[in-house]
Amino acid sequence: MSGSGIAAAEQLSKSDTLGLRKKHLGPSCSLFFEKDPLKIVRAEGQYMYDEDGRQYLDCINNVCHVGHCNKRVVEAACQQLSTLNTNSRFLYDNLSLYARKLCSLFPDPLSVVFFTNSGSEATDLALRLARAHTDSFITITLEHAYHGHVTSAMEVSPYKCPEGKMTLPPYVHVAPCPDSYRGKHRDADHGPEELGRLYAKEVKDICEKVTKGGDRVGAFIAESMQSCGGQIIFPPDYLRRTYECVREAGGVCIADEVQIGFGRVGTHWWAFETQGVVPDIVTLGKPIGNGHPLSAVVTTPEIAKSFHSTGIEFFSTFGGNPVSCAIGMAVIKEVEDRDLKTHAKEVGDYLVSSLRSLMPRFPMIGDVRGIGLFVGIDLVRDRELRTPATEEARRLLFRLRQEGVILSLDGPYDNVLKFKPPMTFSKANVDRIVLLLQRLIPEIKEDATAGFQKKPEACNALTADKPVSRNARICVAPLIQPPGDLLCGMRRAQGCQSRMKSGYIASCY
Ligand SMILES: Cc1ncc(COP(=O)(O)O)c(C=O)c1O
Repeated sequence: MSGSGIAAAEQLSKSDTLGLRKKHLGPSCSLFFEKDPLKIVRAEGQYMYDEDGRQYLDCINNVCHVGHCNKRVVEAACQQLSTLNTNSRFLYDNLSLYARKLCSLFPDPLSVVFFTNSGSEATDLALRLARAHTDSFITITLEHAYHGHVTSAMEVSPYKCPEGKMTLPPYVHVAPCPDSYRGKHRDADHGPEELGRLYAKEVKDICEKVTKGGDRVGAFIAESMQSCGGQIIFPPDYLRRTYECVREAGGVCIADEVQIGFGRVGTHWWAFETQGVVPDIVTLGKPIGNGHPLSAVVTTPEIAKSFHSTGIEFFSTFGGNPVSCAIGMAVIKEVEDRDLKTHAKEVGDYLVSSLRSLMPRFPMIGDVRGIGLFVGIDLVRDRELRTPATEEARRLLFRLRQEGVILSLDGPYDNVLKFKPPMTFSKANVDRIVLLLQRLIPEIKEDATAGFQKKPEACNALTADKPVSRNARICVAPLIQPPGDLLCGMRRAQGCQSRMKSGYIASCY
C-alpha cells in the first residue's frame, strides 16, 4: 500500500505518545490493536492517516458520520466558536432552530428534546425520564446490550458485566438478545415471523412475572439493531410485539439510536422505523455531532411533563450550547443535501450482496447480515455448528490492518467483523474489501487450522480450570496469539470464554 505523501503533523514520536499515555491514563483505558496501536495524525472522509502518511480505510467510525473533518461541519464549528458560545440558560437562535429541526425528523408524538454531551449521559437521562413517568425502576434490557459507562447505564449493560465482575441490580431484568443466527431461538429451527414472536414472548414472560409480583414495568431499553451483540438485525415484528407487552405492563420503551441513528440504515432516519414502532424515548449520540461531544434525548410532551412535575430542574452546562447546535445542524444538512441516506442504502446493499457472493467459496463466512451501512460478517469454523472462528477473526482483522483497512470485532465471541463506516463509504471501498477478503481468508484459514491440529491434546485442558458457565456445546482450541495481539478496544470476557491455565482457550457457543 502506498502512503498518501502528505506530511503528518506530529509533535511526539509514536513511542513517546504511547509512553505518556501509559503513564498518565488509567490502565483500563484500552486501545485498538493493544500491542501495536495505530497512531493517527489526520483524517478526511472515510480515510485516516498515520504518522508516516500511510492511508487507512476506516470501516468502523460511525461517529464521523458525514466524513472525518467534514468541511461544512468544521466551518459551522469555527464560525460559531468565534461568534458566541454560552450555556442554554441564555436565549439564542441556534438551540431553538436545531431543536425544531431535530424533532422534525421524528414521528409524532416525539417532539421534545433535551441536549446532553455523551451517549452515556443520554442513557442516564432517558432512564430518569422513564422512571419519573412510570414511578418504577424496573427495567428490561437485552443480553449483550451496551448503553454507556456511567453507573446507571452500566446497570442496564450486560455487555460490560462479565460474570463475577459486576452484578446487575435486582430491578434490572435481562431478556435474550433476538439473534436469529446464534441466539436462544434460531433460524435453523424457526421462520422469521415465528422468531419475532418467540423472542417477544421472552420479554412478555418477564413483564408477567413483574406484574404478577404486584409491580409495574418502568422501561424497556434496547438498540433497534444491536451493535455490541455482533450486528444483530431483529426478526420481523420483534419490537412491535415487545413494545406492546411492555406498555401493557405499565412501562415505556426507550430506543437507543446512539450507534445506528441519523440515516445509517438507509431507508429511514432511525433504526426503530425499520421495525414499524414509535418509541416513547430515544437516545442519540455519536454521529449527531460528527465527533463533537453532543447527544440528545427525544421524548413525548407527556413524558417531559412528568419529568418536570418531579420539581427537579434539568440543566447541563454544555448540552445544547451554540457551537454544539451549529454542528448538529450542519450534520443533518449534510445528510439531507448529499442524500447520504439513499447512499447508505445503495452502498450497504452492494456491500451485503458482495459479501454474500463470497459465501459459496468461503465456508468460514457463516453469515452476512446488515441493513444500510450497518453490516456484520459472522466468521465460523463450522457452518453447520456455527462454531465461532474467534482466533481466525483476530488474525483476519490484523491482516486487514496491515493492508490498510480498519475493521473491528464484536459479538459475545468476538468473531463478528463489524462495518459501520462514515456514510461517505463508497462502492469502490466495498470492491477493495471484497478483493482483500478473497486473498486473506484462505491465508487465515491455513494458519488457524495448522495451530489447531498441532495440539489435539487441547481437550485435556478443560479439566485444568472451570471456564465455562453456559449450558452450551464446548470447544477447546489453542490460544493463538496473532502478531501484535489484536485484543482491540473494549475487549471483555463474557463468562462464556475464558483463558485457561494451560494456555488454551475454551469457548461455548
Ligand atoms: C449503543 C450505545 N449506547 C450508548 C453508548 C454510550 O455512548 P458514549 O460513549 O458517548 O457515552 C454507546 C457507546 O459506545 C453505545 O454503543
